[in-house]
Amino acid sequence: MADTLNSAQLAAVHHLGGPCLVLAGAGSGKTRVIVHKIARLLEAGYAPGQIAAITFTNKAAQEMRERAKALVGARAAASLVVSTFHALGVRLLRADGERIGLKPNFSILDANDVLGVLKDAGTTTDNAQARRWQWAISLWKNQGLSSDEAEAAAQGEDERSAARVMRRYEERLAAYQAVDLTT
Ligand SMILES: Nc1ncnc2c1ncn2[C@@H]1O[C@H](COP(=O)(O)OP(=O)(O)O)[C@@H](O)[C@H]1O
Ligand SMILES: [Mg+2]
Repeated sequence: MADTLNSAQLAAVHHLGGPCLVLAGAGSGKTRVIVHKIARLLEAGYAPGQIAAITFTNKAAQEMRERAKALVGARAAASLVVSTFHALGVRLLRADGERIGLKPNFSILDANDVLGVLKDAGTTTDNAQARRWQWAISLWKNQGLSSDEAEAAAQGEDERSAARVMRRYEERLAAYQAVDLTT
């Protein structure tokens, strides 16, 4: 393994004691670091199921999965969690969503579905208005606010109506057993 990694890559791969940030340009060997780090963690005694490699795009996750498999073998690779943020979220929700009232067969709304439900919740056919609500709801969700908390935090009539739409939106998602990963 050592002869295939430069010294900066080696330092990152062998750092097992806590967080390690690697900043490097395209094609400089970051994915190489990650797949070798996976091998190093296995060698250190971690079970494949304890290791997660998370990235942004399906394409990158696919590449990482294949490269990890080539390095550590199909058996270990089968139990690794190598996925996008969204796929990991879905996986966790399918396994444990029951605790927040989601059945394991919940559906995932795409961007068009989201706008449709928002227009229904806000009784409008205006796409631009639905997008403004989506934007406001997204900001609240990013702050971890429930619709009740959003209503309490809302300033002015526009925000108050966005918070009311958020409440009706969430009621609809719960009724449809659907989740919105884009807002
Ligand atoms: N230390 C190294 N020695 C030889 N080849 C390397 C080394 N690090 C990376 N590579 C190769 O360079 C290419 C780009 O590496 P990759 O890990 O995909 O980079 P990144 O994820 O940063 O874009 C790959 O073909 C990889 O195998
Ligand atoms: Mg890469």
